[in-house]
Amino acid sequence: MTRKEITTSFEEYASIDEMIPEDRELAAEAIDAMKGSYAPYSHFNVGAAVRMSNGQIVKGANQENAAFPSGLCAERTAMFAAGARYPDKDMKSIALVGGVYGRITDAPATPCGACRQVMAQYQTKGGGKMSVIMIGAKRVWKFEKVDDILPLIFDSI
Ligand code: THU
Repeated sequence: MTRKEITTSFEEYASIDEMIPEDRELAAEAIDAMKGSYAPYSHFNVGAAVRMSNGQIVKGANQENAAFPSGLCAERTAMFAAGARYPDKDMKSIALVGGVYGRITDAPATPCGACRQVMAQYQTKGGGKMSVIMIGAKRVWKFEKVDDILPLIFDSI
């Protein structure tokens, strides 16, 4: 038996103002996207924004439904809209933010497992890296690629 280790690394920023302009813009769009959240049950509003390889940004927000499984997270709302709007472009980056009654959490919002899996597939579809920016009021994290938040990515090929 040999013990193996999986490690990850990421960048931490004090706020989005410290980020490069491209990331700061995407982060600001994710925060703006929170306005589109429909969360009458959890009151947890999540916003997400995806940057495409053509520079366009597509936003999404979580949408809840009385038939609970019918709702959808902000990240998948954004990614599915981006995939449908720009089917021939790649997703280069996604930013997300969340907060109860719209008050952004101090710690960065972290994406659920299902959203990570969807990110992984769009990253594979694009053939490059898709960075993931998680925004909090007190700190912001940037992961260079989806692999960094989803080790041992499932791939049917
Ligand atoms: N939610 C997201 O939008 N993204 C995530 O990654 C995790 C959770 C939403 C789903 C639901 O509307 C609310 O947050 C509370 O779970």
